[in-house]
Amino acid sequence: MNQENIEIFEEVREFPDPTAARRYAALVGLDHMKERLLKEARLLFDPESLTAWSSKHHRRKTRLVDFFRDRPPLFIFAGDVGTGKTALAETFGDAVAREANMRLVLFALSLNARGTGAVGEMTMLLSKAFGEVKQAAKKASGRGARHSSGVVLLIDEADALAQSRELAQMHHEDRAGVNALIRGVDDLAVGNLPAMVIMCTNRVDALDPAIRRRAAVTFTFMRPNEQQRQAFLQPVLEELGFTPQQIHSLVTATGAKDGRKYGYSYSDLAQRLLPGLLLAAYPSKPITFELAKEVVENHPPTPPFQAET
Ligand SMILES: Nc1ncnc2c1ncn2[C@@H]1O[C@H](COP(=O)(O)OP(=O)(O)OP(=O)(O)O)[C@@H](O)[C@H]1O
Ligand SMILES: [Mg+2]
Repeated sequence: MNQENIEIFEEVREFPDPTAARRYAALVGLDHMKERLLKEARLLFDPESLTAWSSKHHRRKTRLVDFFRDRPPLFIFAGDVGTGKTALAETFGDAVAREANMRLVLFALSLNARGTGAVGEMTMLLSKAFGEVKQAAKKASGRGARHSSGVVLLIDEADALAQSRELAQMHHEDRAGVNALIRGVDDLAVGNLPAMVIMCTNRVDALDPAIRRRAAVTFTFMRPNEQQRQAFLQPVLEELGFTPQQIHSLVTATGAKDGRKYGYSYSDLAQRLLPGLLLAAYPSKPITFELAKEVVENHPPTPPFQAET
């Protein structure tokens, strides 16, 4: 990685990586998405397994396989704030790397790629970023044989870059940027490269339709329901000596109630409520149910993301 790439990519991570494995395992309620994502990734990074499946079950490489392969390798993670989009995007590469027994590299596009608004800058930065990723994917490509490694490009807060060109007030420069983004995604689809693009957004409706239609899958992330809050809170609270009734009462208290239409997001639970509980007790007292009820009162959930209209 040379000096000038630093501003295009926030970071470059390699998998397998034990920290990512731990974060990935700690994500609850996303099992369906994890399963689908891993399957899609496996087919992209290990295309031989698809050909093998086709030969085994249909005695030839069926045409269906080509349709599958020609899809742009784009996946959209959409949904409310604090529901695990970034966390899953940053860590699933570890699970794929372990499962496929290969090395994976994650390039996270920096918001700096938006540039300063100078003419042609965003287009230039985006083309450069996609160019880098394509280069890395080509190097990793097995050219018909098994890929030696794979590349994931993460575009977080994608609405900042991929806003619909339909928006009347959209700056000409942004429009050119969206075009560069579309070209970049299309370009990666050519040549069976071991590359995958993930875009995260709170505002899927604001994404350009041409981007949305290219997505192989759009995953919708939601706040945890009662059962998922239970799955999240139970192990932590049980360890602190809470009874099942007490845990249930806190699970209910963190849901939609008393006219409030929304419950806690995963990040409300993980990054506000539980640390708040610890801070309320530390350093002089233990964590009790009474204290927990108080902390819940003092840490209301974040309101859902509302698109500005
Ligand atoms: N499904 C989940 N299970 C467990 N913890 C979660 C889950 N989702 C989120 N968290 C916790 O909340 C933190 C924030 O989540 P994350 O940054 O992935 O949210 P996000 O969906 O990207 O939100 P935003 O739209 O605001 O960017 C995570 O680091 C993790 O600690
Ligand atoms: Mg995020």
